[in-house]
Amino acid sequence: MSSASVAIVFHSRYGHTARQAAAVKEGIDRAAGATGILLACEDAQTRWDELAAADAIIFGAPTYMAGVSAEFKAFEEATSNAVMAKGFLWKDKIAAGFTNSGAHAGDKLATLVQLALFAAQHGMHWVSLGLPPANNSTMGSAADLNRLGFWLGAGAQSNTDQGPEAAPPESDLATARYLGWRVAEATLQFVRGRTASPAREGAHRSDGRVSVEAES
Ligand SMILES: Cc1cc2nc3c(=O)[nH]c(=O)nc-3n(C[C@H](O)[C@H](O)[C@H](O)COP(=O)(O)O)c2cc1C
Repeated sequence: MSSASVAIVFHSRYGHTARQAAAVKEGIDRAAGATGILLACEDAQTRWDELAAADAIIFGAPTYMAGVSAEFKAFEEATSNAVMAKGFLWKDKIAAGFTNSGAHAGDKLATLVQLALFAAQHGMHWVSLGLPPANNSTMGSAADLNRLGFWLGAGAQSNTDQGPEAAPPESDLATARYLGWRVAEATLQFVRGRTASPAREGAHRSDGRVSVEAES
């Protein structure tokens, strides 16, 4: 049976996004053959080799002032030297993202876009949430999966007067578990596909130049 390792790099100052990250890991671990590795973004900066060895990396940050938190941005910027300059080490890995914030909208989409662009700069393959938007009709409720209606990644909302033991709610944690499971399944498909059909020479050049015209 194929196996896949899926790392989760996240930041959380007050613990709410950490709960979302733990739920993502639960979802990964539910996919037979996949293993989730949970790394706070501060610790991740001492564990570059583990990230280079992972088949997929899921990024998660709270939305602070309409974007990723400063701590997560510091991690992003550290990858310029530690990952990109070392030879595009994350190119062709699977990627996905999640965010949590106080308001229901809260400009979370800006954070997900920021995470997707970050993954794109590394040449990673972005996996969307893959759930229909919910809680958008008289039949819906706040208990629905994807109650906040995101497509690009998983969103969560934590009331600002509740601690991480109470927020985000179960529906958002279930949505995070779904994202983890979906990314793990997609990664397993990629791992199996690469075994059956290894990448052609030229597609993985570390300088980013690809001579497709030489291939027939
Ligand atoms: C500096 C700062 C900026 C914030 N900016 C936003 C924001 O733009 N949108 C929003 O909905 N909530 C915002 N919040 C609320 C946090 O996103 C919310 O409390 C979140 O649950 C914190 O996650 P954490 O416990 O993982 O740190 C902000 C909080 C802080 C401390």
